[in-house]
Amino acid sequence: MPFPVRYELLTRCSRTEARRGRLHTPHGVIDTPVFMPVGTQATVKTMAPWELEELGAGIILANTYHLHLRPGEDIVRRAGGLHGFMQWQGAILTDSGGFQVFSLASLRKITDEGVQFRSHIDGSPRFFSPETVMGIENALGADIIMQLDECPPYGASRSYLETSLRRTLAWAKRCKEAHARPEEQALFGIVQGGEHLDLRREAVDALVELDLPGYAIGGLSVGEPKPLMYEILAHIAPRLPEGKPRYLMGVGSPDDLFEGVERGVDMFDCVLPTRIARNGTVFTSTGKMVMKHAQYRDDFLPMDPSCSCRVCRTFSRAYIRHLLKAEEILGVRLTTYHNVHFLLNLMKEIRKSIEEDRFLAFKREFYDRYGYTSE
Ligand code: GUN
Ligand code: ZN
Repeated sequence: MPFPVRYELLTRCSRTEARRGRLHTPHGVIDTPVFMPVGTQATVKTMAPWELEELGAGIILANTYHLHLRPGEDIVRRAGGLHGFMQWQGAILTDSGGFQVFSLASLRKITDEGVQFRSHIDGSPRFFSPETVMGIENALGADIIMQLDECPPYGASRSYLETSLRRTLAWAKRCKEAHARPEEQALFGIVQGGEHLDLRREAVDALVELDLPGYAIGGLSVGEPKPLMYEILAHIAPRLPEGKPRYLMGVGSPDDLFEGVERGVDMFDCVLPTRIARNGTVFTSTGKMVMKHAQYRDDFLPMDPSCSCRVCRTFSRAYIRHLLKAEEILGVRLTTYHNVHFLLNLMKEIRKSIEEDRFLAFKREFYDRYGYTSE
């Protein structure tokens, strides 16, 4: 049985693990490495689907945890799945809820069977197991669905990480068995194991054994120092099967995108561009800019003069600052639009640099301009 999502490796870049590829999905072909904007509640906050399309987004994320609690997967299924419900024609990936249960829900109790918790919305008791989560993700109908996993906090003890990993790996197997639509939705496994490379390697081997259509690296960007995350990535990403996509979960600052791509990651998602936009911070080619600062009161330049997005081609810093200060909704719509454009465009330039075998030179150029120091 062919997988519904298939990775095609196009080119590699010398002296790095960077790969240029294509992800074939039931909702389009996606150039990789790719950044996936986050649409937790079946909306990338403030953005209409046609705006995402205009920006060239090929795939977005949604969350099982949130959509199960509200409006419930049955409503979404009856609307034609997430694609019909939110009217997004591109590809969709749903995270399994494991991670959100740990960050949002209360009274959590985790056992080998699953995780018991209370909804952060109304306090109602809920239970997620590999089987219930697969039922929810099958009803939501995303192109890529993530296994239920446990993402332990940074600093967890070795013995806890061992127990947790054993559970996550058993859950991967149970998810595969419970997955009712394997011809339509691709189930990805998630590599956990904290900072222990031997546990991470054990996770890779066990998940590869399951022959899943793609693999994610989870449990990173949870408070560990960046060099440690990069070291784990350098060890783990290249060990994943060459012919399958590699997804680094919840990571997406510009430097993390470069460092991840350099180590062989194909897919990223992060709330960063949309979240910081809502408090008025934007990415620019020379670093982040806090748009509410007084210095922009009478600054009639575009937010980023070298940005080609519709917002930068149209509006001034002074106008956007005014909207944000006056708490006008358009303000955060414009900063969000620009930030999503910024990361999608950055990935486009990264892809081009891989094709032209000058990824490391492009990274150095970007870091110099942006104000990052290269290692
Ligand atoms: N999002 C960011 N990190 C993780 C992770 O480790 N697991 C899951 N399911 N989602 C994530
Ligand atoms: Zn712009």
